[in-house]
Parts: sequence; C-alpha cells; structure tokens
Amino acid sequence: METWRTAIVDAGPDHIRVRGHDVLDLMRGATFTDLIFLLHHQRVPTAAERRLIDAILVGSADHGAGAPSCAAARLAASGNRQSPSAAIAAGVLTIGDEHGGAGSSCMALIAATLERSRRDERALDETARLVVDEARAAKTRLPGFGHRVHATIDPRVDVLFGLAEESGLAGDGVRVVRALERAIAERIKPLPINIDGALAAILVDLGFPPLMGMLLFVIARVAGISAEVLEEHLREKPMRIRIPVEYDGVPPVDGGVS
Ligand SMILES: CC(C)(COP(=O)(O)OP(=O)(O)OC[C@H]1O[C@@H](n2cnc3c(N)ncnc32)[C@H](O)[C@@H]1OP(=O)(O)O)[C@@H](O)C(=O)NCCC(=O)NCCS
Repeated sequence: METWRTAIVDAGPDHIRVRGHDVLDLMRGATFTDLIFLLHHQRVPTAAERRLIDAILVGSADHGAGAPSCAAARLAASGNRQSPSAAIAAGVLTIGDEHGGAGSSCMALIAATLERSRRDERALDETARLVVDEARAAKTRLPGFGHRVHATIDPRVDVLFGLAEESGLAGDGVRVVRALERAIAERIKPLPINIDGALAAILVDLGFPPLMGMLLFVIARVAGISAEVLEEHLREKPMRIRIPVEYDGVPPVDGGVS
C-alpha cells in the first residue's frame, strides 16, 4: 500500500517532532512565530526574521470590524450562535485576491518583474513601468497597491520596510515593490503600498513561495476574527447587527402574477 507522506510533523506515542525539533524543547524555548516559521519554512528563524514575521502578524491581525473578514465573521456570529467555528470560517472565506490574499499575487508579480528585468537586461524602474503600462492597458489592478482607508499611505508599510532595512533583510522584494510604487505614481496615480504588498516584498526576501502571502495573512487574521467573534457573543444579543440597506429596485407591481 502506498503511504501518505509528510515532512512536517512526526508524532508517535513517545515523541512529537516538528521538522525534527522536539515539541517539548520548542514549548520551552520557542515563540509561536518561531513555530509558524518552522512549520512553513523548515527551519527556526533568526532573531531578525522573527521580528519581521511578528511585525507582519501584528500588523495584519485586525483592521476593524468593518474589514470584510471581520464583518462576515461577526454577521455569522450574530445569526448563528451555536457555532463560533462557523463564524471564524465565514470570516476566513472572505479572504481572496481583493482582501488579504493580494500578497500571493503580489509575490508572483515581484518574481515575474525581477525575472523580466534580468532576462531583458533592463533596469528595474524601466521594467516596472512596462508592467504598470500593461496592467493599465488590460484594465487590471496591481496587487499590493491601493487601500480603501489609507488612501495615500499605509503607515504599517514604513514600519515593516524600516525593520527590514535595519536588519539588512530588505532585498529584491522590497526593491521591486518600491519600483512598482514609483511607476504606478508616474503612470496611474500615487497609490500606497498596502499591507499585502509589504508582506509580499518581505516574504520574497525571506525566501518564501508565493502561496505564503495569503497563508500568513490568514494565520494573522484568524487571531483578529476570533476576538471579533468573542466580542459579538459577549456584547451583543443575537441578530443585532443592522446594516443600512437602501432598496432601489422596481416599485410595487400592481395586479399580481397572471
Ligand atoms: C484596495 C482597492 C480595492 C481600493 O480600491 P479603491 O477604493 O477603488 O481605490 P481608489 O478609490 O483609491 O482608486 C480607484 C482608482 O485607482 C486606480 N487603482 C486603485 N488601485 C489600483 C491598483 N491596485 N492597480 C491599479 N490601479 C489602481 C484605478 O484607476 C481605480 O480606478 P477604477 O475604479 O476606475 O478602476 C484597490 O486599490 C485594489 O483593488 N488593490 C489591489 C488589490 C489589493 O492589493 N488588495 C489588498 C487591499 S489591502
């Protein structure tokens, strides 16, 4: 019989090892961020890498009850009191290209822009302009840029890039995102790098695959969603969320249906 293979956890009656590390040692000496890094990247992070991943997790955990993931979770918690886990799942289900998942497409965009600049022996700024022009012609939005609330600057980005620069971990990922930011300002309009764009740049520089852009956001946001669901349970009666809705359909139809 063929076996089902995994290289993450080896668990038996007298041992639990995560990527070869005894979980009891990890419980004594590692942080949760170390574990997230180890689970997804096969080694324990350096102190500087831990700081950066921690900063991403803190910056992504919650953006207010109105963010799609938090709002959906609270609505589900409001209507279905029996299943907090369903409310958490409802929040996670809103995460995609437009909300929280743009990090993955941004990581793919960074890799493609870098590869194109090297292949064509063209400066990064020039390649970034081509990429932006093509996105504009195709009427597509560049993942990792723009924000509904932080229309000019997302303050979390400077913190993340500052930490990456200080620790010497900022590399091609940050350079490409900055080049795209300049090209977007020149060719479209000034748009802020958003948290997904910033985490994408850093995760590229830490050697993670594109999928990690969305996965790390999901890990962080579940902490925020969980608090939102708890607050809904503790503070509100069921079915108390009222969203202003305006009907703009056809007026009442006379005569019934024949
Ligand atoms: C986040 C987002 C939905 C905000 O959209 P918004 O509130 O409509 O943005 P603004 O009002 O500032 O700007 C609208 C115009 O700016 C331009 N624009 C905004 N974001 C853009 C982007 N990422 N790439 C290219 N052009 C963009 C477009 O010309 C847009 O006009 P359109 O609606 O006619 O297409 C949008 O910027 C976006 O889709 N970004 C990419 C996805 C992303 O990174 N999501 C994570 C968000 S944290």
